[in-house]
Amino acid sequence: MLAEEDLMGNSNESFIKSESVCEDETSEKKAVSRKQFLGRLYEIPGAAISFCNDVDDEPCPPGEFEFINGYRYSPNVKVPSPESMFGCEGCHISGCHLKKPQSCSCLDDLDDKHRKFAYNKDRKVIIPPRHLIIECNRYCSCGPDCATRVVQRGRLIPLEIFKTPKKGWAVRTQRIIQRGMFIDVYRGEVIDHEEAERRGSIDHQGSVYLFDLDFFSKGEETQEFGSAYTIDARHCGNVTRFFNHSCDPNIAIWPVVGHELARTERLYELAFFAIHDIKIGEELCFNYHGEGNQKKEGQRGVICHCGSEKCTGEFFIL
Ligand SMILES: C[S@@+](CC[C@H](N)C(=O)[O-])C[C@H]1O[C@@H](n2cnc3c(N)ncnc32)[C@H](O)[C@@H]1O
Ligand SMILES: [Zn+2]
Ligand SMILES: [Zn+2]
Ligand SMILES: [Zn+2]
Repeated sequence: MLAEEDLMGNSNESFIKSESVCEDETSEKKAVSRKQFLGRLYEIPGAAISFCNDVDDEPCPPGEFEFINGYRYSPNVKVPSPESMFGCEGCHISGCHLKKPQSCSCLDDLDDKHRKFAYNKDRKVIIPPRHLIIECNRYCSCGPDCATRVVQRGRLIPLEIFKTPKKGWAVRTQRIIQRGMFIDVYRGEVIDHEEAERRGSIDHQGSVYLFDLDFFSKGEETQEFGSAYTIDARHCGNVTRFFNHSCDPNIAIWPVVGHELARTERLYELAFFAIHDIKIGEELCFNYHGEGNQKKEGQRGVICHCGSEKCTGEFFIL
């Protein structure tokens, strides 16, 4: 369906409705903005992302949203430099030895208890959510087939952005997903703490796309690093910014280092993996709170429409 649409250019299209615009003009504008949105989806690398609205006549998500494939750094954020990267030495070109985590220096940052590879030979994640995943990178002695390289290979599962009656836009899978499979990484603009506070305090009619990179500030490294960065996917990001909250989620988040980003600069990626087997057509949702459902300072409650039996009735956002 997507491939059959004509691709439109990237000219800016206003989505603000004017009362003086007549019916025909409005429908034409809707058709153009839908075509533009489909054109943007078509250009996304990786497995296809389709689009569907069976609920109402909104042509596509509102706003000037740009799909990006990497982080976008706001001016006051220090961009990680390649010098801070290092790789393992002595691991075989065919891949690091999954049964011998002691022998791969990529895992040197992990303490003895956590020193294990994050994936099994099928490239499914086997460490618990929110535990650090370290992937081999371009400086490693192993080659591209090393089983530790999963997130850096990109999304392999085709997804669909669709409209829900009560939660706005959402994402569902077009393939069966097995537990442990990688789905995608959260993308957006990397902003500092002050900017996140400022943006969080602006009322955007309920929807919030801010994600704190606070993994390393929770441990003993807090004092060294101070407050962490935040990812804002309001204006730019990828399909994951349409993932909704559920009190009974089927996907969760792992912090990932390797490839481009260096742990020493507090920047890492947020990768979504399946925590259950997921059927075709099922919506992909994660728990916005990570663990627990406690309201933190400065957060406000939103009525939850996840529809699960475990629903607590509300969730909290900045
Ligand atoms: C990151 S966005 C998710 C995509 C969003 N539905 C959209 O249309 O762009 C987060 C927002 O989606 C809505 N949302 C997400 N999960 C929800 C849920 N379980 N119940 C009600 N609204 C939800 C809320 O407005 C929330 O602020
Ligand atoms: Zn390796
Ligand atoms: Zn390595
Ligand atoms: Zn709920």
